[in-house]
Amino acid sequence: ATIHDQKLRRGEGGELHQLAEGATPVLTTAQGGPVSDDQNSLKIGARGPTALEDFHLREKIFHFDHERIPERVVHARGYGAHGYFETYKSLAKYTRADIFQRAGEKTPAFVRFSTVAGSKGSVDLARDVRGFAVKLYTQEGNWDIVGNNIPVFFIQDAIKFPDIIHAVKPEPDSGFPQAQSAHDNFWDFISLTPESMHMIMWVMSDRAIPRSFRFMEGFGVHTFRMVNAKDESTFVKFHWKPKLGLQSVVWNEAVKINGADPDFHRRDLWDAIKAGNFPEWELQVQLFDQEFADSFDFDVLDATKLIPEELLPPVPVGRLVLDRMPDNFFAETEQVAFMTQNVPPGIDFSNDPLLQGRNFSYLDTQIKRLGSTNFTHIPINAPKCPFHHFQQDGHMAMRNPVGRANYQPNSWGEGPRESPQAGFRSFADVESGPKQRLRAESFADHYSQARQFYLSQTPPEQAHIAAALTFELAKVKTPVIRERMVSHLLNVDRGLANGVAANLGLQSMPKAADAAMPTRQDLEPAASLSILAK
Ligand code: HEM
Repeated sequence: ATIHDQKLRRGEGGELHQLAEGATPVLTTAQGGPVSDDQNSLKIGARGPTALEDFHLREKIFHFDHERIPERVVHARGYGAHGYFETYKSLAKYTRADIFQRAGEKTPAFVRFSTVAGSKGSVDLARDVRGFAVKLYTQEGNWDIVGNNIPVFFIQDAIKFPDIIHAVKPEPDSGFPQAQSAHDNFWDFISLTPESMHMIMWVMSDRAIPRSFRFMEGFGVHTFRMVNAKDESTFVKFHWKPKLGLQSVVWNEAVKINGADPDFHRRDLWDAIKAGNFPEWELQVQLFDQEFADSFDFDVLDATKLIPEELLPPVPVGRLVLDRMPDNFFAETEQVAFMTQNVPPGIDFSNDPLLQGRNFSYLDTQIKRLGSTNFTHIPINAPKCPFHHFQQDGHMAMRNPVGRANYQPNSWGEGPRESPQAGFRSFADVESGPKQRLRAESFADHYSQARQFYLSQTPPEQAHIAAALTFELAKVKTPVIRERMVSHLLNVDRGLANGVAANLGLQSMPKAADAAMPTRQDLEPAASLSILAK
């Protein structure tokens, strides 16, 4: 308790008095010492040198000097809000997760929306994927659904994540472009990565310039599992559907809004929630078994594919309402740490190789970004259910084991014990096979769903995709990269490819890209260079 937050003041004799309503508290140092002058540093004479002795000056500047922490390596620009999740009906048949056992149960939630490529100070209406990260403070620990507003992803294997992010971020020599995919490095990588074509169609569509966070869908992207009390597994995909429906702006508007109000999306969420217009999303799930998964040519473990909603309509299972803005942006929105590996008992992972890599990445990056293994001691990251463990010490430890025992088993009858019944049990899937670096044949079709998405769009939406590709590729200076992109588009839709090629002024049409997986040799630097040279 400090003088500041207790609304106390110190009297002449040092005694504490309640501050009168509206009275101004006395400014103190971080150590609680009252400050007499916050306008002038301590000097020798009116014009003399500053005294090193001025602990108030030193503390104030020292603290200011250390205000910045590293921004997120991706999704640096984001905006969060508090709310709750309400379960519609029991899903006990599919999962033993406590959050899905009782209809009407409310679970506190925190959501952070973000762009991916730009830095913390970049504009809101960049053409980009939007993060849609949900932290559910369940009775069995935090469950984070760290999703995006697009149901698929650029790459199939986490080992390519550093490459795609390096390629989309500013080029290392020039340091630009900022928050823009329209540059040679990005399109070079994409043109050498056919698996990204489905995602590229979404990113070039209106989905990548949403009108506001309130009009966006959210997707868990990967196939997860629900596991019931009998340890039976059902595959599941998670979708957030906005009650307000989907809306986007057009590129012309996006460019103007970015200039006039780079905080457009932040302001929209702040204004809506402060005015009592609480945005709401329905959680819908696609549940399926192995037999259903096997009925497709593509692989449900491939994050560049979706399960068409016409074939498996998502079922509503609850709703998410955002009704409160954070009190402090840094404490909550900046310090919140989402992690795909945060799942309660009854929710489990699939073998999706992108998800498996993410499960390592998030814990690792939080320690770097938040600076301590104790980032769960920060209130926004702490569970809201009872929790007991023997982890101790480390930088900024706010909680340590109470009593003598900091290990188990112990003879003192102290501390928590594990519970085979209540605890998380990994689904006992049977795995075997040679240890190797290989991509399954079932991951090889990169164009069918790209085409399906393009053809699902209305003519004006298709025109927007062609215009976006033209704008982006026109900024690419290396002709072979443009040609390579058109050769991929030929596998998506000939009309789209022809249109973009004409807009770009291509002299002749390249031939369609080889629809098979690129061989390792195709990706060797020497091979790329020889293409460049011709
Ligand atoms: C951050 C989504 C793939 C690493 C984020 C955030 C979201 C997100 C929403 C922002 C979280 C926040 O608001 O604080 C996704 C989705 C992916 C994906 C949907 C694919 C389906 C990956 C992969 C990796 C990765 C493959 C690494 C192997 C990271 C890292 C951060 C991040 C390091 C920064 C976290 C932080 O500093 O708080 N991701 N991501 N992501 N993601 Fe991903």
